[in-house]
Amino acid sequence: MFTFKRILLFALFLSTSFAFIHAAEDITIVVSTADNSLVFKVDKDKKLRQSYYGNTLKNEDLKEIQSGTIDAYPTFGTSYLNEAALRVVHADGNTSTELVYDSYSTRKISDDVEQTEIVLKDAYFPLVVKLNFKAFLKENVIEQWTEISHTEKKAVTLYNFASSQLTFNQQNYYLTQFYGNWAEEMKMEEVKLTRGLKVIDSKLGVRATGYAHPCFLLSLNDKVQEDAGNVIGGTLAWSGSWNMTFEVDQLENLHVISGINPYASQYSLKPKTVFKTPSFLYTFSSKGSGAVSRNFHSWAKQYGIYRGDRTRTTLLNNWEATYFNFNENVLTGIIKDAADMGFELFLLDDGWFGEKYPRDDDKAGLGDWMVNRKKLPNGLGYLVNESSKNKIKFGIWLEPEMVNPKSELYEKHPDWVITQPNRPLDLVRNQLILDLSNPKVQEHVYSVIDKTLTDNPGIAYIKWDCNRIITNSGSFYESPETQSHLWIDYVNGLYSVMKRVREKYKDVSMMLCSGGGGRIEYGSLPYFDEFWISDNTDALDRIYIQWGTTYFFPAMALASHVSVTPNHITGRTTPLKFRFDVAMSAKLGMDLQPKDMSAEDKEFSKKAIQEYYKIRGVVQFGDMYRLLSPYTSTRTALMYVTENKKEAVVFSYLLKKTISGNTQPLILKGLDSEKMYTLTEIDKDPKSYSWFSPLEGKTFSGEFLMKYGIRFTLYNEYDSKIIKLTAN
Ligand code: GLA
Repeated sequence: MFTFKRILLFALFLSTSFAFIHAAEDITIVVSTADNSLVFKVDKDKKLRQSYYGNTLKNEDLKEIQSGTIDAYPTFGTSYLNEAALRVVHADGNTSTELVYDSYSTRKISDDVEQTEIVLKDAYFPLVVKLNFKAFLKENVIEQWTEISHTEKKAVTLYNFASSQLTFNQQNYYLTQFYGNWAEEMKMEEVKLTRGLKVIDSKLGVRATGYAHPCFLLSLNDKVQEDAGNVIGGTLAWSGSWNMTFEVDQLENLHVISGINPYASQYSLKPKTVFKTPSFLYTFSSKGSGAVSRNFHSWAKQYGIYRGDRTRTTLLNNWEATYFNFNENVLTGIIKDAADMGFELFLLDDGWFGEKYPRDDDKAGLGDWMVNRKKLPNGLGYLVNESSKNKIKFGIWLEPEMVNPKSELYEKHPDWVITQPNRPLDLVRNQLILDLSNPKVQEHVYSVIDKTLTDNPGIAYIKWDCNRIITNSGSFYESPETQSHLWIDYVNGLYSVMKRVREKYKDVSMMLCSGGGGRIEYGSLPYFDEFWISDNTDALDRIYIQWGTTYFFPAMALASHVSVTPNHITGRTTPLKFRFDVAMSAKLGMDLQPKDMSAEDKEFSKKAIQEYYKIRGVVQFGDMYRLLSPYTSTRTALMYVTENKKEAVVFSYLLKKTISGNTQPLILKGLDSEKMYTLTEIDKDPKSYSWFSPLEGKTFSGEFLMKYGIRFTLYNEYDSKIIKLTAN
């Protein structure tokens, strides 16, 4: 039954809606990509409304769009009913903000990128909010961020400061969230959104992707599908605490607000300074989540990761090979073996430094970035030389943001760490985090990297780690009034260091690592070539972790290492071929002591690495298609296709033994239906009979492969196949 209040609200809604449609002064602002339109309208009260986001609309149809009633950037105090994107306490103590439209402008940045700025102003206070959009035309990605400034007499305090709000008006909303923990990152779960608020967030301060990932898929009306349905993918480019709210309101509208986590982070903004939020990146497709991923991948390769056009190198990392227990001889041996096997780089991990407090375990030495001469009497330069003698490159592990209390650095600068005075030190992995809001600390962190690279010319690669979160969030640098700024200033300090490093060392490759996959986001990735998604190198677990990660991040940047069996973390035993086949579907590397391998395994590895080089271009630069999900099928498969559709590679894995064999067909995608493709198996196991053999060397049309597919049996747990397709 309608209550009086409901009828009143409904009448109010109708009357205001009609008023908007017919208002003479209607302004329509369209942010367009090749296939998407994001439309804003200004209503008669000069309120900016987000009125449409979806497949491209024709220009002549834009005038038919109703403006709607939801503020594009809702503010506390006047946009009453729902979560606010912006909450400001003004200099005079007033807690309300009311934004009205002022102007907008667009400019072409390149043939592919167009930037739109919409200026909103408070109706009373001299407070300006600029909504910025970069539309990446070909990639169908929109980057949105907000800039807040004012000229009030004193500072204002920002309590909420979202990057963006998106609104939808559909029957049902299905949210896929990505979550995990150390060694089990990027799991996926889909939930139907119901009335009220669903919040996903991180309060870790750093390591934004520690337990929950600032990424989501939103499927409109039906559950998410790979190749059909209206799906939005969104991710926040921020390395600190973040927050995304999904609110289904009283009229079944969905409001999605994304940004820095405002929790305990109120920010006092001085007059004439600009508060710039991080970017929220999003894309829409009416062709399912597969297209959403490909949009993100092609955007990332061009704009989101460092030099996405460069081939990523294979490497051997000594972490799981030696942990802290190595010396010059051991490393020289590994370098020789790595080169002999065909790797392109040797990566020296943790444990090479510390004088007074040698880093022989994780309890001491962090922060003291001088070579441990007991382990490495001839220094890093010797290892760089050894690598180059063996014709491979040399890389090094650094964790410049951190310090062990047992270190010379901490003895000298106890006030450089984040901690609360009068509270015991809160150690995580026996270490503390340096306060990067402090410019002196920024300078120090930069100099650690700069000195390591200038003292040892020839270092070609850095693995930049970050093994703890922020707790006891006190800063000796911030004033008593600005302690809550730490969460934001830390991240901006970090970016200023990363930027400086990148400006000076353009050709050094960098891997982003954070206790495994704690920092995979597009805030840091513009400075990094690749990332470490998990300390869990178990190939079976990796299938799931890689599956989730590649919804938003391209496989070219996803380092995947073959390690020993039984796996150090899970204890699981899997065939070497399976471990290779999983790693080869991304950026191949290895994390084991080659000396401990059998001659046969070494020989297999050598061949596998050469096989990887044959398909590396397709994997790193091709378009990815998911064929069978490990979440719904015991056989899982994915494939890559080059842009010209002349080459493709299919990866397929059996997760569970099936007595009579798994014959699930692999219905391929993304091929040219007119082209004829010849099939070749890659990375064959010479020992085992292959049920693929009858198809070896056979040629089929793209159309056939996309309708009938490839059919062969997989029997045993962890059986795997890589099939290369070459167009004639
Ligand atoms: C983190 C990383 C590992 C390794 C260790 C070294 O856990 O994720 O790969 O580098 O640190 O301490």
